[in-house]
This record gives sequence, structure tokens and C-alpha cells, in this order.
Amino acid sequence: MTLAADDRTYLWHPFTQQQGWQDEDAPIIERGDGACLWDVDGRRYIDGISSLWCTVHGHRHPAIDIAIRDQMDRVAHSTMLGLTHEPAIELAKRLVAIAPPGLRRVFYSDSGSTATEIALKMAFQFWQQRGGADARRTKFITLQGAYHGDTIGSVSVGGIDLFHATYGPLLFEALSAEPGDAEDMAALLEENSGQVAAVIVEPLVQGAAGILTQPDGYLRAVRELCDRHDVLMIVDEVATGFGRTGRMFACEHEDVAPDLMCLAKGITGGYLPLAATLTTERIYEGFLGEHQDFRTFFHGHTYTGNPLACAAAIANLNVFEQEHTIEKLQPKIALLEKLLRGVARIPTVREVRQRGMMVGIELEEFPLGARMGHQVTLEARRRGAIVRPLGDVVVLMPPLSIDHTELRRLIDIVGHAIEAATGAALDDDLAEAA
Ligand SMILES: Cc1ncc(COP(=O)(O)O)c(C=O)c1O
Repeated sequence: MTLAADDRTYLWHPFTQQQGWQDEDAPIIERGDGACLWDVDGRRYIDGISSLWCTVHGHRHPAIDIAIRDQMDRVAHSTMLGLTHEPAIELAKRLVAIAPPGLRRVFYSDSGSTATEIALKMAFQFWQQRGGADARRTKFITLQGAYHGDTIGSVSVGGIDLFHATYGPLLFEALSAEPGDAEDMAALLEENSGQVAAVIVEPLVQGAAGILTQPDGYLRAVRELCDRHDVLMIVDEVATGFGRTGRMFACEHEDVAPDLMCLAKGITGGYLPLAATLTTERIYEGFLGEHQDFRTFFHGHTYTGNPLACAAAIANLNVFEQEHTIEKLQPKIALLEKLLRGVARIPTVREVRQRGMMVGIELEEFPLGARMGHQVTLEARRRGAIVRPLGDVVVLMPPLSIDHTELRRLIDIVGHAIEAATGAALDDDLAEAA
């Protein structure tokens, strides 16, 4: 099979130990439709992770396909530096209309990492430009276990040692708060009064930490604490945005309006790389000045606001409206909850966490070398579903468009995959003990 051989010869995959990749026999995906993907051998898989948490209305949604083709007939790319274009303008207006109140300005980039990087830089520069005592606001508070992307700034506010510790000497220091504990956040803000630029949080669910859910009221409490200390609140909705938690944005569950909001992944329905950092007029105005004042936000990427991606994003929002996606999601969330009760009863499952369509199934502890999360992935793949674990947490995040039958099938496959992988390991243990 030359494709597989060429992959092994020429590629270096993200978040992948390449040693051993040779033996993986990973599916080579050829096409998708709705909630499913097909490989070059014609095998069908349910896309249980929305192609890494981004597919929203399914693969090859006609309305998004057409919007991209129409835009392609006009222009595929034109810069936002010194020029502008209709899709970027219209999308910004549409995002502001649905965003939490007060978020009025849209700054585009192309990934979740850049969206958070931009929010951090904006917050920092905002206080520097205010000058006086405010220039002492240089610190950031993040949550333990946070994940905001892989660029150096977003890694600095990251809290996953496995991914982040190596880069320690390259990073700026961030204070880290105990997730879900408003008192800990209050104490940190108190101790560092007048020195904190912003608090950055993944709202309601810390995704990459293993789908860790926060108690009700926590996000609101963080907002109130930020207000009390005049600290900016950055909400990273990269994973939670665009319906994943059952509302358009996770912030809506607690009526929270942040000062900066980061969007990516589902913004284009999962079609093209686009991200946006939304902010308030207060922050925007902090950057206004004469040319020679140099208060400009000196940041921008080549593909910032790419027209094809903006066209896809507008179509994505249209589909939300036309298909009543959020409304139709509620019974699916309820069904998912019901189906997961069965998974929770599997003896090798320690805990099942769910928020909307975001699910983490934590397995009982197995030796690190057993790579149990990975074994479950392989078993699921054999049965026709694509999942990807975070350590020993099996993550599920199907497209919002998945129908009830497919959802049942996905959970059935995952349950059996867990039983097969963990059961086999237990059998091995028993055989060894005998
Ligand atoms: C909450 C959050 N922020 C940021 C990112 C980084 O996004 P990207 O991979 O597009 O850079 C992710 C990716 O999983 C994420 O979950």
C-alpha cells in the first residue's frame, strides 16, 4: 500500500510518538458524509470526536459546501492587512450579534492557539497602554490542568505537565488556580492585587484535561471576582463554543459576558482553519491613538480572516438558524445521558462526565505501558467508530448533527470497545496471577 508507506516515510503526525506509528495501521480517510467517515478501503466509521472537536453539522453539509464553492468563484484569499472583504465583515457582524453582551469587536486568526495568544497579548498591552499603576498588571491567572493551545503564549497559561513542562524555560510565569474553587481564585486575586492582567478559563468544561466539568456557578463567581479586582476575564470557548455544551456558547449557561472570548474549531462548522478573538469597546478603545503613539495591536497572520473560511463560518451560522440545531440538540443530550448510564456500569469505568455533547469516560487505572485509552481506540475502530483518548479518558464529542440511531451505535461500539480492551487486560492479569 503506497499511501501508507509514503505516510511513514514523509510525515510527522501531531501529538504522535512516531516510533510505533509504523505498526498502527491507521485508517487513511478518503471521504465523509454526515456523522461518518470512510477510509480508502471503503470501511465506514462514526466520527465520534467530530474530527478533533470541530465538525458541527456533519461532513459535506450541502449549505456549507455551496458557500465555499460560491466564494471560490469570487476570490479564495485576500489579506486583511490594508484591505477588507465582505465575508469577514458579515461574519464579524453575525458573531457580535450572537456573542455575550458587550463583545463588539472581532479580531481574526486561524487556530485556537492563536485566538488565545491574541487574547493574552491584547490583555497585556491594554494595561501597559493605560500606564501608571495599571502597567503593573502583568500577571495571568489560569486553571490547573488548563489547555489553551500549543504556541508559547498559550502554553505559558497551560497546565498539563505532559504537554507543557518541557518548555518551562521558554515560558512566562502564570499563577494557577484550583479549578472549580472560587475561594482559591479569590485568594490568588487578593494576594496579587493590582498585578493581574487577566484570568483565562475554559468555561464549564476543561477539555484537554480530560473533560473535567466545573460546578454550577463557578464561571459566574470568576466573573464577579474579576469585576471586583478590575481584572480582565478571557473565556476560551475554542472547544465549548458552537453548541457543544448545549447552548451556542458555554458562557450563556451562567449569563457571563467575558472581556475577551476565543473562538475556533466549530466556527466554520469544522471545515476550514479560522479563529476569532472577540472583545469589548473598552479594550478596543484602549488601542486607539495617533500613528506616532504606537498603540497599534502589532499582530496578524497571513491567512487572518481568509474569505473561504469566513464564507464557511457564515454558512455554519445559517445552518444553526435554519435547522434549529440547538433546539434539536436537547433530546440528543438527554439520550446520550441515558445511554452513558450503561457505560458507567462497566466495572473498568471509573467515572463518566458529560456536559452537553462533550463526554469523558475515565477508565480505572491501568499500568501506563498498557496504553488503555489507546487500546480502546483500536477496539472502537475495529467496530466502526473513531475516538481518541486523553490518557485513560475516552473522549466522545460527536457532531451535533448525529442522529439518534448513530448515537446509539456510537455508544454501543464504545461500550463494547471498553469491555474488550479492559477485559482483555484483566484476563491477562488473572492469567499472570494464576
Ligand atoms: C480550549 C482549547 N483552547 C485552545 C485549543 C487550541 O486550538 P488549536 O488546536 O486550533 O490551536 C484547544 C484545542 O483543543 C482547546 O481545546
